[in-house]
Amino acid sequence: MVRHFLRDDDLSPAEQREVLDLAKAVKADPLGGRPLAGKSVAAIFEKNSTRTRLSFEVGIAQLGGQPIVVDGRTMQLGREETIEDTSRVLSRYVDVVVWRTFAQKRMDAMASASRIPVINALTDEFHPCQVLADLQTIEERHGRLAGVTATYLGDGANNMSHSLLLGGTTAGMHVRVVAPEGFQPQPEIVAAAEKRAAETGGSVTQFTDPEAAIDGTDVVVTDTWTSMGQENDGRDRVSPFRRLQVNADLMSRAAPGAIALHCLPAHRGWEITDEVLDGPASAVWDEAENRLHAQKALLTWLVSR
Ligand code: CP
Ligand code: NVA
Repeated sequence: MVRHFLRDDDLSPAEQREVLDLAKAVKADPLGGRPLAGKSVAAIFEKNSTRTRLSFEVGIAQLGGQPIVVDGRTMQLGREETIEDTSRVLSRYVDVVVWRTFAQKRMDAMASASRIPVINALTDEFHPCQVLADLQTIEERHGRLAGVTATYLGDGANNMSHSLLLGGTTAGMHVRVVAPEGFQPQPEIVAAAEKRAAETGGSVTQFTDPEAAIDGTDVVVTDTWTSMGQENDGRDRVSPFRRLQVNADLMSRAAPGAIALHCLPAHRGWEITDEVLDGPASAVWDEAENRLHAQKALLTWLVSR
């Protein structure tokens, strides 16, 4: 059975550990192996991207493979060709598909017709490659993952919140989500995270109040209040979120040595201040770098199945 990485809990806790160990090894020796020699990877983007696109393209080349980066909006997929037919054809040309798209059900359709691994490079619901890099960064800074408390503040129903819930609990972390009323995570994803947490010793807690959540937090995570595709959804994505801004005052109330993460791009002065982003608690540039290492590890792991 071909393995895909469509959402964070597609990896078991033991498998996630293998990928993170591999990511550490890849970072220490970036040109240490060519597991993609003779292989091609299509990386298809239906939304904008800087980090994901560049880190996959560089990473695939460093692993000895041929990256083919495509703007999905120019493919026949952008006209009337079905996702399944596109997938069948891709399986005849390349060895792995990396795809950034809208609804998760599109990603599931791509995987359902695929004979080769499909990697989720961001959907409306999940951003699992980002959270692998986040976990690598947290482990570098705190020396462990199990038992570490991470608090996400922002749109609890977006891809970063959902992926942190699933990926964090898979690693045995305590994940807290602070979101305004109406922006809470999807209940079925919370249930999946709670199930994972029960296996790993992690936990899931939801808050509407940042004051209560920040106490004892080792990792403060935020993201844009308006994700790609939500620009014109008619919802007020500013006033309910102002209280959740990651600023110096909030960071001062987290646990000693707490770090701040943001997947980027950041909207400086909105969800996070310059003072935090450019300050000593910020781990965001290492976090961005780790996209490269974590994705190389993931690709190496998937093609060796
Ligand atoms: N964090 C992230 O996925 O960035 P890009 O949108 O630039 O790829
Ligand atoms: N939640 C953001 C993440 C960007 C990397 C978005 O989907 O736009």
